[in-house]
Amino acid sequence: MSASEIDIERIGEDVPLLEAIRTARAIRRLRPDPVPKALIRKVCEAGTYAPSGGNRQPWIFVAVTEPGRRAWIAERYRKAFRAYIGPAFERAEADPEFPPASLRNMRGALHLAEHLHEAPVHLFVAGWKRRAEPQLQALFPAIQNILLACRAVGLGASLTTAHRSFGAEIDAYLGLPEKTPSCALLPIGWPQGRYGRPPRASVDEKLFFERYAEAGDAD
Ligand SMILES: Cc1cc2nc3c(=O)[nH]c(=O)nc-3n(C[C@H](O)[C@H](O)[C@H](O)COP(=O)(O)O)c2cc1C
Repeated sequence: MSASEIDIERIGEDVPLLEAIRTARAIRRLRPDPVPKALIRKVCEAGTYAPSGGNRQPWIFVAVTEPGRRAWIAERYRKAFRAYIGPAFERAEADPEFPPASLRNMRGALHLAEHLHEAPVHLFVAGWKRRAEPQLQALFPAIQNILLACRAVGLGASLTTAHRSFGAEIDAYLGLPEKTPSCALLPIGWPQGRYGRPPRASVDEKLFFERYAEAGDAD
């Protein structure tokens, strides 16, 4: 879709919130077509409505769209990702008992690593350090808002952090000062597949009233 075909003001505005939450699965197979900058701005604006400690709004968004720069980033992400998940992935592929949904998820993650340079937008979320520590937790509400906004406007997106093993080098490349490291990389683009409900355990296995009880405990 080109910028002229999209009504940036209206796109995504009528998507029911809870349905969007339930169907915002990680979309890692992306088309290489460009995403209008105004739409990137729109999903980042959703990020700015997140809560933050003392309303300090610690986030900085850097959207990398230029192909040469994406290739540079993707090379490092791939290296980091292979070192991190490679051995576990090989074990999983060889294990007939490995849950198929988890294997599918791993394959998707691997696909993203192999094709990251094709994702038209590499959106980095960075933020202020506090007491010399990166404040990842302070950025996650903004990150989740952006993922949900992508869902609403029909963009595919996922949350990744594997680039952080090359963090300092990548941050310098992005022009981020040492005091505001990048915490997440959201590859964004038009999805090849569809949104849908991701596999999740029932809330009934996760929710307890008044007191937690181990499975099998008597009431
Ligand atoms: C803190 C955090 C870091 C993650 N880092 C990565 C990553 O580096 N690469 C990746 O492919 N998936 C990463 N994921 C996992 C996916 O983004 C996704 O949430 C997960 O696979 C579930 O996908 P689903 O919602 O489609 O079931 C990360 C998730 C979280 C919460």
